[in-house]
Amino acid sequence: MATPSRTVSKSVLAPPAPPTQRRPYTSSVAPTRSYFNTSIGTKVLIGATGLLLFGYLILHLLGNLLVFLGPETFNSYSHLLIKNPLIVPVEIGLGAIFLVHIYKAVTNFIANRRARPVRYHRTAWTGRPSRKSLASSTMIFSGIIILVFVLIHLVQFKYGPEYVVAQGSSEAGVRDLYRLELEVFGNILNVVFYAFCMLVVGSHLWHGIASAFDSLGADHPRFTPLLLRVAKVVAAVIALGFMAIPFWVFFFARQGAVS
Ligand code: HEM
Repeated sequence: MATPSRTVSKSVLAPPAPPTQRRPYTSSVAPTRSYFNTSIGTKVLIGATGLLLFGYLILHLLGNLLVFLGPETFNSYSHLLIKNPLIVPVEIGLGAIFLVHIYKAVTNFIANRRARPVRYHRTAWTGRPSRKSLASSTMIFSGIIILVFVLIHLVQFKYGPEYVVAQGSSEAGVRDLYRLELEVFGNILNVVFYAFCMLVVGSHLWHGIASAFDSLGADHPRFTPLLLRVAKVVAAVIALGFMAIPFWVFFFARQGAVS
């Protein structure tokens, strides 16, 4: 009589199905859809949406740095942006890109976990040429923190108090986002929260940009290493640039506004 263990080893040792029995590729699913569901297609999608979000962050930082030039300049800039008729389609597009990025990253993470349910015993921190780093092994966690940050950030700013200030030729006045920034970053808890989140954003970009270029096939022997180095510098500049705003408001701008 066969023992249970023999049955198991039998099935383990069973020869792989001959090639003729493997299910052939059928075109019942649209080719583009099936491509973006493969692991390569998923990585391409995560990389492409990630780079688009990265582009948004650069523009967002450049706009926000205008706060250093004072309330008139900053409020005029944000008024132009808010009143632009293209803002709604751009916001919808940005939201869609953000959702696809999150959905694909999370399903990819779960699929990788399922494929290797038992984690390797030893986590080796390898140097070059592997890109394993603290940033690369914590992408899912930094991503979740960024998602929570963005939700809180939208409540604080986009859907925050609608202060209005008289300015220029605008009869109805313009939204006083300068005042809102002074108010939000006048609270040390918000300053610490933003500083922490910007470190997380920097970490996510540090690995994310390199990984995105990799997924999109950047492999020029001379230019790709340079591109990846530049991307890391840009990741650090973005994080530090955003971080400078709450600190500047808390330590310098508020004093000017109060006196
Ligand atoms: C100190 C850092 C930051 C400051 C001072 C800041 C400031 C602002 C302000 C004032 C708005 C409102 C604009 C409006 O109502 O149209 C806004 C919107 C927004 N911010 Fe930030 N931001 C910062 C960092 C970030 C970061 C790191 C992200 C993403 C990871 C981000 C994502 C967004 C998004 C998605 C919106 C909504 C855009 C829209 O729907 O038009 N922000 N931010």
